[in-house]
Amino acid sequence: MLPKTQLNPPFNITRASHVSLTVTDLGASRDFYRDVIGLVVTEETADTVYFRGLEESVHHSLTLYKTDGAPLADQVGFRVQTDDDIDRAAAYFASIGIEHRRVDKPYQGPTLQFVDPVGTHIELTSSMDVVERKMQNYNEFKAGAPQRIDHFQIVTHDVQKATDFYHTLGYRLSEYTAKDNTDELWGTWMEVKGNTHDLVFTNGRGPRLHHFAYTVPDASALIHAADVAGAYGLGHEIDRGPGRHGISNALFLYVRDPDQHRIELFNTHYQFIDLETPPIRWDVSNPKRAQLWGMPASARWFFEASEFADQPVEEPLLAATPDTLEQYLQLH
Ligand SMILES: [Fe+2]
Repeated sequence: MLPKTQLNPPFNITRASHVSLTVTDLGASRDFYRDVIGLVVTEETADTVYFRGLEESVHHSLTLYKTDGAPLADQVGFRVQTDDDIDRAAAYFASIGIEHRRVDKPYQGPTLQFVDPVGTHIELTSSMDVVERKMQNYNEFKAGAPQRIDHFQIVTHDVQKATDFYHTLGYRLSEYTAKDNTDELWGTWMEVKGNTHDLVFTNGRGPRLHHFAYTVPDASALIHAADVAGAYGLGHEIDRGPGRHGISNALFLYVRDPDQHRIELFNTHYQFIDLETPPIRWDVSNPKRAQLWGMPASARWFFEASEFADQPVEEPLLAATPDTLEQYLQLH
């Protein structure tokens, strides 16, 4: 069933803003995100690297932490409007029994972490240190020249529960996938910032972070990123694309980092603000939802994702299995 957006939510989330990952070889991952993707290194220490997009004036939108254990998704980050929104979020979560804690994070204002009802580790912050915006430093554009972080996709065992929860926080459905002419939700694309999505949930073993995404300036930047990945001998780490999504109409390229975390570069989404606009429904049997040109994604893209620390992965409630590239090639 399609939930209704809470237009006066308990606190004000403004956008997808930052993500943190753990990595096994900090130097290799720094080189990957700087040279193969083209992000800007804001700061580097012995165990942490902070990156931002060229257009971003915040200190970081991607943080990598060195780990001696398995590489994991750490926190998926959103901005709230003011410090008061952090207080309101804490009060709201306490009132509905959501596990949460305040944390001190370098370069960030008041910060609150919580675990959502499907187990996703979410971090809210109200501000970050301001640094130089490099959007006109064209001499520093490399690879895909990513401009700004845009959205996250999470694999979850219960898309309905996740979608219901985020609608109570003010998120709004722009597009969704469902089975057999019903509204039984397989995937939901939800936004708070006025384009098609800040946060996506898709059906599968979860919670796991499927990807985080940065916008690139234009289609040629996307192709250049693929060329650069190939030139570094990393063509096999492009696990999907270039292509165009039916959902959101974006050109896309997905690349796996040295620990197999997945980043998407894309250009671009459409505006989604007017409240009377209904969400677009796609049947999960329609391959054009994921690839407008018709070729399905690889099994690797569909089924591999990054787990969160100490968060058990649950089997999906829905038995919907998308067509994969491997099946398509066997049939044609
Ligand atoms: Fe995406």
